[in-house]
Amino acid sequence: MTVINSAEFLKSSTSFEQCPTENLPEYAFIGRSNVGKSSLINKLCSQPKLAKTSSTPGKTQLINHFLINQQWFLVDLPGYGFAKMPVKLKKKMEIMINEYLVNRPNLLNIYVLVDSRHEPLEIDLDFMARLALNQLPFSIVFTKADKNKKTRTMENIDKYKEVLLQSWEELPPIFLTSSETGLGTSDILEDIARINLLY
Ligand code: GTP
Ligand code: MG
Repeated sequence: MTVINSAEFLKSSTSFEQCPTENLPEYAFIGRSNVGKSSLINKLCSQPKLAKTSSTPGKTQLINHFLINQQWFLVDLPGYGFAKMPVKLKKKMEIMINEYLVNRPNLLNIYVLVDSRHEPLEIDLDFMARLALNQLPFSIVFTKADKNKKTRTMENIDKYKEVLLQSWEELPPIFLTSSETGLGTSDILEDIARINLLY
């Protein structure tokens, strides 16, 4: 069982150049605005107030580094696809996120969060396609599993897999989580521990 003994906020950055020295393994959480990135980080760290969360989309606007067990970083990123955000700011944030993703040699895995209640969305599929194009390793994390019946959630995930397999030969690793119940959090921590060992 992988345990987080210490988790501390280290730094907020507005560009990849400002990010902490690239000397530790790093794992980033990304996905549409309001999908539950910050909440999942808090649940993983058992610290409800570590990363700022909100029921209003667009809460996280910077690249936030958290130092875990003094050994690796968790990174909370702003969400993409928030319709009500001013176009200029949205563009700026997209560029910030993309530049960060392609310019962090210590970024060992990207967890792409997807709401388990929704059908596959073009914006998420496009985002993952771009990650693949840039040869960036990623996994899909379905969130908010507590909000639906298990059978319904599994149907949604199966549908998602079906759509992915229309354009891909292989599926990325898939996790099912809830920041309410803690479902799936130990799976993600195990995954990170496994990757840490390869570093
Ligand atoms: P941005 O920073 O705005 O992009 O959002 P985010 O992806 O960080 O989402 P955040 O963690 O702030 O959560 C958004 C809302 O969803 C909050 O009201 C959370 O309480 C709620 N939420 C997040 N995860 C879960 C979950 O697993 N279950 C339930 N029921 N609610 C969740
Ligand atoms: Mg957030």
